[in-house]
Amino acid sequence: MNYKDLGLVNTKIMFADALKRKYAIPAFNFYNMETLKSILDASENTKSPVILAVSESALKYMGDDFLMGMISGAKIKSKNIALHLDHGHSFESCKHAIDIGFSSVMFDGSELPFSENVKQTKKVVNYAKKFNVSVEAELGTLSGIEDENTKSDKNIYTNPSDVINFVHETDCDSLAIAIGTSHGAYKRNNSSEKLRFDILDQIAQKLPKFPLVLHGSSNIPQNLIKIINKNGGKITDAMGIPAAQVRRAVSMNICKVNVDSDARLAFTAAIRESLFKKPENFDPRKYLTVAMNKMTETYIHEITEIMNSAGKAKK
Ligand code: G3H
Ligand code: ZN
Repeated sequence: MNYKDLGLVNTKIMFADALKRKYAIPAFNFYNMETLKSILDASENTKSPVILAVSESALKYMGDDFLMGMISGAKIKSKNIALHLDHGHSFESCKHAIDIGFSSVMFDGSELPFSENVKQTKKVVNYAKKFNVSVEAELGTLSGIEDENTKSDKNIYTNPSDVINFVHETDCDSLAIAIGTSHGAYKRNNSSEKLRFDILDQIAQKLPKFPLVLHGSSNIPQNLIKIINKNGGKITDAMGIPAAQVRRAVSMNICKVNVDSDARLAFTAAIRESLFKKPENFDPRKYLTVAMNKMTETYIHEITEIMNSAGKAKK
Protein backbone atom coordinates (compact mmCIF):
# COMPACT_ATOMS: atom_id res chain seq x y z
CA MET A 1 0.00 0.00 0.00
CA ASN A 2 1.36 3.43 -0.91
CA TYR A 3 0.67 6.18 1.60
CA LYS A 4 -0.36 8.59 -1.16
CA ASP A 5 -3.34 6.37 -1.94
CA LEU A 6 -4.49 6.93 1.65
CA GLY A 7 -4.37 10.73 1.34
CA LEU A 8 -1.28 10.91 3.56
CA VAL A 9 1.82 13.04 3.06
CA ASN A 10 5.38 12.65 4.28
CA THR A 11 6.79 15.23 6.67
CA LYS A 12 9.25 17.01 4.35
CA ILE A 13 7.01 19.81 3.09
CA MET A 14 5.39 20.12 6.52
CA PHE A 15 8.76 20.73 8.16
CA ALA A 16 9.94 23.20 5.54
CA ASP A 17 6.89 25.37 6.25
CA ALA A 18 7.16 24.91 10.02
CA LEU A 19 10.79 26.05 9.97
CA LYS A 20 9.97 29.07 7.88
CA ARG A 21 6.96 30.16 9.94
CA LYS A 22 8.26 29.13 13.38
CA TYR A 23 5.71 26.60 14.49
CA ALA A 24 5.80 22.88 15.30
CA ILE A 25 3.83 20.05 13.81
CA PRO A 26 2.20 18.16 16.68
CA ALA A 27 2.96 14.43 16.73
CA PHE A 28 0.20 12.80 18.74
CA ASN A 29 0.25 9.07 19.46
CA PHE A 30 -2.78 6.92 18.79
CA TYR A 31 -3.61 3.31 19.57
CA ASN A 32 -7.33 2.87 18.88
CA MET A 33 -10.28 4.42 17.05
CA GLU A 34 -11.00 6.88 19.85
CA THR A 35 -7.52 8.39 19.95
CA LEU A 36 -7.33 8.52 16.14
CA LYS A 37 -10.70 10.25 15.79
CA SER A 38 -9.89 12.76 18.51
CA ILE A 39 -6.60 13.74 16.85
CA LEU A 40 -8.25 14.12 13.44
CA ASP A 41 -11.09 16.17 14.96
CA ALA A 42 -8.60 18.49 16.67
CA SER A 43 -6.64 18.88 13.44
CA GLU A 44 -9.80 19.68 11.49
CA ASN A 45 -11.13 22.11 14.12
CA THR A 46 -7.92 24.09 14.31
CA LYS A 47 -6.79 23.66 10.68
CA SER A 48 -3.50 22.33 11.97
CA PRO A 49 -1.31 19.79 10.18
CA VAL A 50 -0.72 16.76 12.35
CA ILE A 51 1.49 13.69 12.57
CA LEU A 52 -0.31 10.51 13.59
CA ALA A 53 2.31 8.67 15.61
CA VAL A 54 2.20 4.91 16.16
CA SER A 55 4.72 3.24 18.41
CA GLU A 56 5.90 -0.33 17.79
CA SER A 57 3.79 -1.54 20.70
CA ALA A 58 0.72 0.40 19.49
CA LEU A 59 1.14 -1.22 16.08
CA LYS A 60 1.26 -4.61 17.73
CA TYR A 61 -1.80 -3.74 19.85
CA MET A 62 -3.92 -2.63 16.86
CA GLY A 63 -2.52 -5.04 14.29
CA ASP A 64 -1.58 -3.97 10.75
CA ASP A 65 -4.97 -4.62 9.19
CA PHE A 66 -7.05 -2.86 11.83
CA LEU A 67 -4.68 0.11 11.87
CA MET A 68 -4.57 0.54 8.11
CA GLY A 69 -8.31 -0.14 7.91
CA MET A 70 -8.94 2.75 10.30
CA ILE A 71 -6.64 5.05 8.31
CA SER A 72 -8.40 4.09 5.11
CA GLY A 73 -11.80 4.52 6.81
CA ALA A 74 -10.84 7.99 8.01
CA LYS A 75 -10.85 9.08 4.32
CA ILE A 76 -8.05 11.57 4.79
CA LYS A 77 -8.05 14.20 2.08
CA SER A 78 -6.48 17.28 3.60
CA LYS A 79 -2.81 16.71 2.55
CA ASN A 80 -1.85 17.75 6.06
CA ILE A 81 -1.65 14.37 7.76
CA ALA A 82 1.37 12.09 8.06
CA LEU A 83 1.37 8.55 9.46
CA HIS A 84 4.57 8.04 11.37
CA LEU A 85 6.28 5.10 13.09
CA ASP A 86 7.36 6.41 16.48
CA HIS A 87 10.60 4.95 17.92
CA GLY A 88 11.28 2.18 15.44
CA HIS A 89 14.11 0.20 16.97
CA SER A 90 15.25 -1.83 13.97
CA PHE A 91 15.57 -1.64 10.20
CA GLU A 92 12.98 -4.43 9.94
CA SER A 93 10.46 -2.50 12.03
CA CYS A 94 10.89 0.64 9.86
CA LYS A 95 10.77 -1.37 6.64
CA HIS A 96 7.58 -3.05 7.79
CA ALA A 97 5.90 0.30 8.52
CA ILE A 98 6.94 1.65 5.11
CA ASP A 99 5.69 -1.49 3.38
CA ILE A 100 2.22 -1.27 4.94
CA GLY A 101 1.73 2.43 4.07
CA PHE A 102 3.39 4.72 6.64
CA SER A 103 4.58 8.03 5.19
CA SER A 104 7.27 8.67 7.79
CA VAL A 105 9.37 6.58 10.18
CA MET A 106 11.64 7.24 13.11
CA PHE A 107 14.67 5.05 13.51
CA ASP A 108 15.61 5.34 17.16
CA GLY A 109 19.25 4.40 17.43
CA SER A 110 19.75 6.63 20.45
CA GLU A 111 21.06 3.82 22.64
CA LEU A 112 23.59 2.69 20.01
CA PRO A 113 27.19 3.85 19.76
CA PHE A 114 27.48 6.80 17.33
CA SER A 115 28.92 4.83 14.40
CA GLU A 116 26.30 2.07 14.71
CA ASN A 117 23.51 4.65 14.99
CA VAL A 118 24.82 6.25 11.75
CA LYS A 119 25.04 2.88 10.00
CA GLN A 120 21.55 1.69 10.95
CA THR A 121 19.93 5.08 10.29
CA LYS A 122 21.55 5.22 6.86
CA LYS A 123 20.19 1.77 6.04
CA VAL A 124 16.65 2.92 6.92
CA VAL A 125 17.11 6.16 4.93
CA ASN A 126 18.25 4.25 1.83
CA TYR A 127 15.16 2.07 1.94
CA ALA A 128 12.75 4.92 2.76
CA LYS A 129 14.01 7.07 -0.11
CA LYS A 130 12.75 4.53 -2.64
CA PHE A 131 9.21 5.30 -1.46
CA ASN A 132 9.64 9.00 -0.66
CA VAL A 133 9.06 8.25 3.03
CA SER A 134 10.70 10.65 5.49
CA VAL A 135 13.06 9.47 8.23
CA GLU A 136 13.58 10.92 11.69
CA ALA A 137 16.72 9.94 13.58
CA GLU A 138 17.79 10.51 17.18
CA LEU A 139 21.01 11.58 18.85
CA GLY A 140 21.25 11.68 22.62
CA THR A 141 19.04 9.66 24.95
CA LEU A 142 15.82 10.57 26.76
CA SER A 143 15.12 8.95 30.09
CA GLY A 144 11.69 7.77 31.24
CA ILE A 145 9.10 5.22 30.15
CA GLU A 146 6.45 5.63 27.48
CA ASP A 147 5.75 1.96 26.90
CA GLU A 148 7.62 -1.33 26.92
CA ASN A 149 9.46 -0.42 23.72
CA THR A 150 10.44 3.07 24.77
CA LYS A 151 12.15 3.17 28.11
CA SER A 152 15.52 4.22 29.35
CA ASP A 153 17.04 5.19 32.64
CA LYS A 154 19.73 7.17 30.85
CA ASN A 155 19.53 10.86 30.13
CA ILE A 156 22.33 11.85 27.80
CA TYR A 157 22.16 15.30 26.25
CA THR A 158 22.83 15.55 22.54
CA ASN A 159 26.38 16.68 21.89
CA PRO A 160 26.16 19.67 19.52
CA SER A 161 29.55 18.77 18.03
CA ASP A 162 28.08 15.54 16.64
CA VAL A 163 25.04 16.83 14.81
CA ILE A 164 26.48 18.10 11.51
CA ASN A 165 28.40 14.92 10.96
CA PHE A 166 25.43 12.74 11.88
CA VAL A 167 22.97 14.50 9.60
CA HIS A 168 25.48 14.62 6.77
CA GLU A 169 26.37 10.93 7.03
CA THR A 170 22.85 9.59 7.49
CA ASP A 171 20.96 11.98 5.21
CA CYS A 172 18.01 11.82 7.63
CA ASP A 173 15.14 14.31 7.22
CA SER A 174 14.80 15.41 10.84
CA LEU A 175 16.67 14.92 14.09
CA ALA A 176 15.31 14.25 17.56
CA ILE A 177 17.54 15.74 20.21
CA ALA A 178 17.87 15.36 23.98
CA ILE A 179 17.81 18.66 25.87
CA GLY A 180 16.17 17.55 29.13
CA THR A 181 12.72 16.29 28.18
CA SER A 182 11.80 12.71 29.06
CA HIS A 183 9.09 10.17 28.35
CA GLY A 184 6.11 9.57 30.62
CA ALA A 185 4.43 11.47 33.44
CA TYR A 186 7.39 11.84 35.81
CA LYS A 187 9.68 14.29 34.09
CA ARG A 188 10.61 16.67 36.85
CA ASN A 189 11.51 16.67 40.52
CA ASN A 190 10.77 20.35 40.91
CA SER A 191 9.21 23.09 38.83
CA SER A 192 12.43 25.11 38.59
CA GLU A 193 14.19 22.57 36.32
CA LYS A 194 14.72 23.95 32.84
CA LEU A 195 15.38 22.52 29.40
CA ARG A 196 18.93 23.00 28.12
CA PHE A 197 18.25 25.88 25.76
CA ASP A 198 22.00 26.45 25.48
CA ILE A 199 22.35 23.04 23.82
CA LEU A 200 19.35 23.65 21.56
CA ASP A 201 20.79 27.01 20.58
CA GLN A 202 24.16 25.49 19.64
CA ILE A 203 22.45 22.74 17.61
CA ALA A 204 20.17 25.22 15.83
CA GLN A 205 23.20 27.35 14.96
CA LYS A 206 24.99 24.37 13.49
CA LEU A 207 21.90 23.19 11.58
CA PRO A 208 20.04 26.45 10.90
CA LYS A 209 17.75 25.07 8.22
CA PHE A 210 17.22 21.60 9.54
CA PRO A 211 14.08 20.32 11.32
CA LEU A 212 14.68 19.38 14.96
CA VAL A 213 12.33 17.24 17.00
CA LEU A 214 11.42 17.29 20.68
CA HIS A 215 10.15 14.07 22.22
CA GLY A 216 8.82 13.71 25.74
CA SER A 217 7.13 17.10 25.65
CA SER A 218 3.92 16.47 27.58
CA ASN A 219 2.89 19.16 29.99
CA ILE A 220 1.17 16.72 32.41
CA PRO A 221 -1.78 19.00 33.23
CA GLN A 222 -2.33 19.02 36.97
CA ASN A 223 -6.10 19.48 36.55
CA LEU A 224 -6.23 16.08 34.83
CA ILE A 225 -4.16 14.48 37.59
CA LYS A 226 -6.61 15.94 40.14
CA ILE A 227 -9.63 14.50 38.29
CA ILE A 228 -7.96 11.09 38.10
CA ASN A 229 -7.05 11.05 41.78
CA LYS A 230 -10.45 12.40 42.87
CA ASN A 231 -12.14 9.53 41.06
CA GLY A 232 -10.21 6.58 42.39
CA GLY A 233 -6.88 6.96 40.61
CA LYS A 234 -3.47 7.16 42.20
CA ILE A 235 -0.90 9.22 40.33
CA THR A 236 1.52 10.97 42.61
CA ASP A 237 4.34 13.44 41.94
CA ALA A 238 3.72 13.60 38.19
CA MET A 239 5.18 16.71 36.58
CA GLY A 240 5.68 17.70 32.94
CA ILE A 241 7.44 20.29 30.83
CA PRO A 242 5.98 23.78 31.34
CA ALA A 243 4.21 25.03 28.21
CA ALA A 244 6.36 28.18 28.10
CA GLN A 245 9.52 26.06 27.78
CA VAL A 246 8.14 24.01 24.89
CA ARG A 247 6.97 27.23 23.21
CA ARG A 248 10.46 28.65 23.55
CA ALA A 249 11.91 25.48 21.99
CA VAL A 250 9.44 25.81 19.10
CA SER A 251 10.78 29.30 18.42
CA MET A 252 14.29 27.77 18.11
CA ASN A 253 13.88 25.33 15.18
CA ILE A 254 11.97 22.58 16.98
CA CYS A 255 9.40 21.77 14.31
CA LYS A 256 7.93 18.53 15.58
CA VAL A 257 6.76 18.13 19.18
CA ASN A 258 5.79 14.68 20.46
CA VAL A 259 2.98 14.37 22.97
CA ASP A 260 1.44 11.14 24.20
CA SER A 261 1.11 11.19 28.00
CA ASP A 262 -1.16 14.27 28.09
CA ALA A 263 -3.79 12.53 25.97
CA ARG A 264 -3.50 9.34 28.02
CA LEU A 265 -4.23 11.42 31.12
CA ALA A 266 -7.20 13.12 29.41
CA PHE A 267 -8.59 9.75 28.31
CA THR A 268 -8.20 8.25 31.78
CA ALA A 269 -9.51 11.31 33.65
CA ALA A 270 -12.64 11.49 31.50
CA ILE A 271 -13.47 7.81 31.86
CA ARG A 272 -12.88 7.75 35.61
CA GLU A 273 -14.99 10.85 36.17
CA SER A 274 -17.77 9.70 33.87
CA LEU A 275 -18.07 6.29 35.51
CA PHE A 276 -17.90 7.79 38.97
CA LYS A 277 -20.65 10.32 38.19
CA LYS A 278 -22.88 7.73 36.54
CA PRO A 279 -22.18 4.43 38.27
CA GLU A 280 -25.26 2.88 36.69
CA ASN A 281 -23.86 3.33 33.15
CA PHE A 282 -22.43 0.31 31.45
CA ASP A 283 -22.57 1.54 27.86
CA PRO A 284 -18.93 2.06 26.80
CA ARG A 285 -20.01 4.34 23.95
CA LYS A 286 -21.16 6.87 26.55
CA TYR A 287 -17.96 7.11 28.53
CA LEU A 288 -15.77 6.74 25.42
CA THR A 289 -17.56 9.72 23.85
CA VAL A 290 -16.79 11.76 26.96
CA ALA A 291 -13.18 10.58 26.70
CA MET A 292 -12.90 11.52 23.03
CA ASN A 293 -14.21 15.00 23.76
CA LYS A 294 -11.70 15.46 26.56
CA MET A 295 -8.82 14.29 24.36
CA THR A 296 -9.88 16.57 21.50
CA GLU A 297 -10.02 19.48 23.95
CA THR A 298 -6.50 18.63 25.15
CA TYR A 299 -5.11 18.38 21.59
CA ILE A 300 -6.75 21.67 20.59
CA HIS A 301 -5.26 23.37 23.64
CA GLU A 302 -1.77 22.10 22.76
CA ILE A 303 -2.10 23.02 19.07
CA THR A 304 -3.22 26.56 19.85
CA GLU A 305 -1.23 27.31 23.04
CA ILE A 306 2.04 25.44 22.45
CA MET A 307 2.65 24.34 18.86
CA ASN A 308 1.48 27.55 17.16
CA SER A 309 0.25 25.31 14.33
CA ALA A 310 -3.42 26.36 14.21
CA GLY A 311 -4.37 27.69 10.79
CA LYS A 312 -1.16 26.37 9.21
CA ALA A 313 -2.79 23.49 7.29
CA LYS A 314 -2.38 23.71 3.54
CA LYS A 315 -5.59 24.49 1.67
O1 G3H B 1 7.32 9.54 21.28
C1 G3H B 1 6.41 10.03 21.99
C2 G3H B 1 6.62 11.15 22.89
O2 G3H B 1 7.97 11.41 23.01
C3 G3H B 1 5.82 11.05 24.15
O3 G3H B 1 6.26 11.90 25.15
O4 G3H B 1 5.50 10.98 27.35
O5 G3H B 1 5.97 13.40 27.06
O6 G3H B 1 3.98 12.40 26.02
P1 G3H B 1 5.37 12.17 26.47
ZN1 ZN C 1 9.34 9.73 22.12
